[in-house]
Amino acid sequence: MGDQPQLNNNNKFIPDHVAVIMDGNGRWAEKMGEERKAGHQEGMEAIKRVSIRASERGVKVLTLYAFSTENWKRPPQEVKFLMQLPVNFFDRFVPELQENNIKVNMIGFKDKVPGPTKRSIEKAIDQTKNNTGMILNFAFNYGGRAEIVEATKSIVEKVISGELNKKAISEEVLQSELLTRSIQPYDEVDLLIRSSGEQRLSNFLLWQNAYSEFYFSKLFWPDFTGDVLDEALDDYQNRSRRYGAI
Ligand code: FPP
Repeated sequence: MGDQPQLNNNNKFIPDHVAVIMDGNGRWAEKMGEERKAGHQEGMEAIKRVSIRASERGVKVLTLYAFSTENWKRPPQEVKFLMQLPVNFFDRFVPELQENNIKVNMIGFKDKVPGPTKRSIEKAIDQTKNNTGMILNFAFNYGGRAEIVEATKSIVEKVISGELNKKAISEEVLQSELLTRSIQPYDEVDLLIRSSGEQRLSNFLLWQNAYSEFYFSKLFWPDFTGDVLDEALDDYQNRSRRYGAI
C-alpha cells in the first residue's frame, strides 16, 4: 500500500502520486480554429510545464494518461499522429528531464504499440534510468479493466502451477500484479487531476484511485500550467483524507 503523503520542505503535504487525465486537446484546437493535431502538439508543451513543476514541488510520481486502450477507436490519422507524439516529445525533452533528475517509466500494453513509438519510449526509459528524482510515468495504451484482467490471469497461472496458494490471494497480492507494480510503493494515486471540465475516470487506474482525492479544472489541457498544478496541490493540502475511518 502507498505511504501517507509526506511533509515537504515547506512543511506542507505534497501528494506522492499525482495522476492526470489530460483532456480537452481537441476542443482547444477547435477553439483556436485549428486541426485536432494542433491541440495534441500544444498538449505536449503542457506536459513539459507540468512535469517540471511537479518535480520541483516534490511529487514522487506523476502519471499522465497519454493513450488509452479505447483511443484506438479514433480515426486512423489521429491515432497515427498520437503514436508519433512520444517520438517527438522524447527527442526534444530528454535533456531537460536529465537536468531535472526525472526518470521516465511507462505503464500499458506494449504489444499493439508501433515499433518506432515503443523504441522511443524504451530509449527514454533507458536514458533516464539512473535518475533518482520524480518518476514521469506515461500511461500509454493503458486501460484499467484490462490491467485487472491481466493481473487476474497471472494469479490464476501461479495458483495452477502451485507457486501461489489460493488462500494467500489478497488485495496486496493482486496489487502487486498490476502494471503499476513498477512504481511501488507509490502505486496508489493520492491526487487525480482531470482537465477540460469533464468529471469521470475513463478507465484510468481503477484500483489505484480507490482513495484518491479528485481535482477538476475547467481549462483545456493545452492551457494547463505549472501554476494550475500549484492550485491543485494547494487544494489537496486542505483535504482531509480518512481512508474510510472517521
Ligand atoms: C485528450 O484530449 C488527449 C489525448 C487523448 C492525448 C493526450 C496526449 C498528449 C497530450 C501527448 C502525449 C505525449 C506523450 C509524450 C506520450 P482529446 O483529444 O480527447 O480532447 P477532446 O475531448 O477535446 O476531443
